[in-house]
Amino acid sequence: MDMIKHPIFQPLRWPGHSLKNRLIIAPMSRVSATAEGLATAEMEAYYTAFAKGGFSMIITEGNYTDEMASKAYPHQPGLTSSSHAAAWQPVVEQVKKHGSLMIAQLMHAGALSQYFQETLAPSAIQPAGVKMAQYGGTGAYPFPKAMSLEDINAVKKGFVNAAKVALQAGFDGVELHMANGYLLDQFLTPELNVREDQYGGSTSNRFRIAAEVIQDIRAVVPAHFLVGIRLSEGKVNDLKYRWKNGAAMAIEILEEVRKAAPDFIHIAVQSGEWERDSFYSNGTSYAALAKQITGKVIIANGGMHQLTRATRVIEESHADLLSVGKAALADPAWPMHILNGTPPLPFHPDMLWPEATIKHANEVIKSKHINIS
Ligand SMILES: Cc1cc2nc3c(=O)[nH]c(=O)nc-3n(C[C@H](O)[C@H](O)[C@H](O)COP(=O)(O)O)c2cc1C
Repeated sequence: MDMIKHPIFQPLRWPGHSLKNRLIIAPMSRVSATAEGLATAEMEAYYTAFAKGGFSMIITEGNYTDEMASKAYPHQPGLTSSSHAAAWQPVVEQVKKHGSLMIAQLMHAGALSQYFQETLAPSAIQPAGVKMAQYGGTGAYPFPKAMSLEDINAVKKGFVNAAKVALQAGFDGVELHMANGYLLDQFLTPELNVREDQYGGSTSNRFRIAAEVIQDIRAVVPAHFLVGIRLSEGKVNDLKYRWKNGAAMAIEILEEVRKAAPDFIHIAVQSGEWERDSFYSNGTSYAALAKQITGKVIIANGGMHQLTRATRVIEESHADLLSVGKAALADPAWPMHILNGTPPLPFHPDMLWPEATIKHANEVIKSKHINIS
């Protein structure tokens, strides 16, 4: 087939926006901002390469949302102040100049912070596993403090302020990180949230914090500013975690998402094993359910650089957009290379080890570790 006619290269029209193809960048933390969380010239070059390489939309790495307890890593970018907006502004400008939409991911690490020793969570449950060395963490995760209602209000205000700062920086929208085991996902996950107030118990209560954040952000941003949400079953410290009651839980969650009406829903499979980790016994996927229940723009993630999988996801209407992670790190011009029949440069795990910085990955790409023949 002439690749230009392939389903992944068809445009997507969205009220107020239009995307030239279905290929977007998945959020990837690169621990490469300044110690104060300011985006840098290196980050500008990194993000611009994806836009030049043919990706139609970029979701940034997770940005911390307040100065209190949200930070996940040292050298994580932030969106708490006008200094953060000013640092992101040239990055956003360059990306948009090259024709891509630019979305800021808003992230509160909660109990999975690699940075803080005193952490917050819906309930005082110690996370499984150990911290991630490539993001600056060492040792076990501490026991988090169960959040008070005041803490919850402060976290919500942080997300709303971060959306305003993202708007100031010129971003086209924000994505709430409610996936991979971080704070909002801790609220959603029954085993991590045993609260007895209005933020725990039923699925509606466990989703409440996100619904309120979406509503509060909508009240302060213009209609064209996109507000999306990322969901997953797997956690960074438990990649194979699945909802205990499978599709029934997914449907309950997605009913809440439908009521909150985000502009897009990103269903992530961080393991990259999309079929294994996102299908239910009734033969549907989390993404397909999201599409059927909400009718919104759905992004599928997890090994979407594999063309047979990507084709299936679009043709069988599991999702509208495909987010690509590691394959794009190795080859930021992945869409262009697929389009013109050049084999893309392959990903190598050394690009993220022993550290996940942009500088280190660039060095590995240039080094003999990567066989680009
Ligand atoms: C280096 C790296 C950093 C990541 N950081 C984030 C992040 O900040 N926010 C997020 O939601 N997901 C993050 N992810 C997960 C990716 O968005 C994606 O789910 C994962 O890489 C699977 O997609 P892939 O198979 O295309 O790589 C990260 C992944 C990698 C490899």
